[in-house]
Amino acid sequence: MTQSATLPRQNKLEQLCAEAQSCRRCELYKHATQTVFGEGPIDAPIFFVAEQPGDKEDSAGRPLIGPAGKLFDSCLNEAHIDRAGCYITNAVKHFRHVQRGKRRLHQRPSTSHIEACRWWLRQEIELVRPKIIVALGAVAARSLFGKPVKIGQIRGRLQEYEDDFIFVTIHPSYLLRLRAQTGFDRERSLFLEELGKISQFAYAT
Ligand code: URA
Repeated sequence: MTQSATLPRQNKLEQLCAEAQSCRRCELYKHATQTVFGEGPIDAPIFFVAEQPGDKEDSAGRPLIGPAGKLFDSCLNEAHIDRAGCYITNAVKHFRHVQRGKRRLHQRPSTSHIEACRWWLRQEIELVRPKIIVALGAVAARSLFGKPVKIGQIRGRLQEYEDDFIFVTIHPSYLLRLRAQTGFDRERSLFLEELGKISQFAYAT
């Protein structure tokens, strides 16, 4: 696609990102450092949706750059997917946490947070128009399908949903928790296999 064809969408995405900085659709902004919006090219064929920013992402203002993000990056590398060519975002764009002394402990977003933030996610999808949307875990899947889904039941298969192709897989933090346990290698291989399927679909002519 030519740059002149994508420029209006690029501009709209930048505008959306700027607007999201003052989002008050739910209360999570009150204790977060900033809105962590999605990042990536406007014409990205693969659109990854994670859960919500963690401590590192909240400070840096970028999605999936903390420990789970590093593990995710290593899997992308192994699957020959260039992160810079993908759009990466979260279902919820503010860090939900509880303070314990100096530590900020992650708390899963509630349904109301997912619902409130769904508006931003839909706008991102409509502007990027990816070939495939990948839900990394249950919160992302909940947001994309607009209802709770059982990851185990739909994982690894492409779903046609409304105008989108959605692929559901695990969240990289699940792999992180499994590290040093039996089952890690098997789960990681399965995730790599799924990334292979995603890449095949996204980059097929
Ligand atoms: N960091 C993110 O940006 N998203 C997650 O879901 C987890 C960590």
